[in-house]
Amino acid sequence: MTAFKNAPDQSYLFPHRHLLSVEELSAETITALLDISDVYADHNRARPSSLTSLRGRTCINLFFESSTRTRTSFELAGKRLGADVINISVGASSIKKGETLIDTATTLNAMHADILVIRHGDAGAVKLLSEKVNCAVINAGDGSHEHPTQALLDALTIRRRVGHLKGLTIALCGDVSHSRVARSNIRLLTAMGASLRVIAPPTLMPNSIGQWGVEAFTDMRRGLAGCDIVMMLRLQKERMQGNFVPSVREYFHFYGLDREKLSHAKPGALIMHPGPMNRGVEIDSDIADDIDLSLIQEQVEMGVAVRMACLDVLCRPNAVSLGEG
Ligand code: NCD
Repeated sequence: MTAFKNAPDQSYLFPHRHLLSVEELSAETITALLDISDVYADHNRARPSSLTSLRGRTCINLFFESSTRTRTSFELAGKRLGADVINISVGASSIKKGETLIDTATTLNAMHADILVIRHGDAGAVKLLSEKVNCAVINAGDGSHEHPTQALLDALTIRRRVGHLKGLTIALCGDVSHSRVARSNIRLLTAMGASLRVIAPPTLMPNSIGQWGVEAFTDMRRGLAGCDIVMMLRLQKERMQGNFVPSVREYFHFYGLDREKLSHAKPGALIMHPGPMNRGVEIDSDIADDIDLSLIQEQVEMGVAVRMACLDVLCRPNAVSLGEG
């Protein structure tokens, strides 16, 4: 293996067989994953030759929903660790011919993959598949439920820039109702000691928000007051049945992040967006591209490091396989 300046902690045992949700991760586990990701982030910046720790392992990316960042970064992460990576595009697979979800999973299982990375439009579908296969499964987004690696990469991005997560006030703004990114981030950042706010129009605010342990606002300027970090969310039209916003223009007027609205947050507040961005809908290009304010490119960069860490720990013997889980 290529030498690391600081090698990731090899003795660490991930306490689960799969990575399905942030809900099952303790603050200790999150910290361990962020520490390992940090080492990979430094390694990726130095751009040495590929590592070999996953040589001979097979990772299959099975994406039932479209994706650019998540799928590409899982592919890069696997390749940088020396794994064989296969991408299955649903449009060109037997799923189009009517094969059931479970038949697809059992077929892939029979090929002895080591890790299946799955994105699916239905909440709970990835967990269901994880119960039918012998290999480790990573949830790359299931409906509006969870997207654990996105929350990990967001936390890593903040931790590297600000130095800590504890005590920060972080606002998630926009289509909270349909966002798996919001659900995973709220769980993870709260577990790490941050205070979370959500800002959304009443039509995109989840009914159950009172049980989420966050402060909820429908007024953007009030919600942003005193925030350290502002995370914008995409309007997820593909998950909407009916009209949730009167018009894109009106949405931008009330909920689109621009310099004026951002001036209500703490001086020096940083902006994040998981991508893909709808410029002029939830965010103004002028601030999205301002490298002093925007962490958006760093989020993409950290995505590869976090996914390397997740593939790494899931390919090790884990606490469950060793009978300690
Ligand atoms: C997010 C997703 O797919 O949930 N994107 C991503 O993973 N980079 C958010 C979104 O699609 O808006």
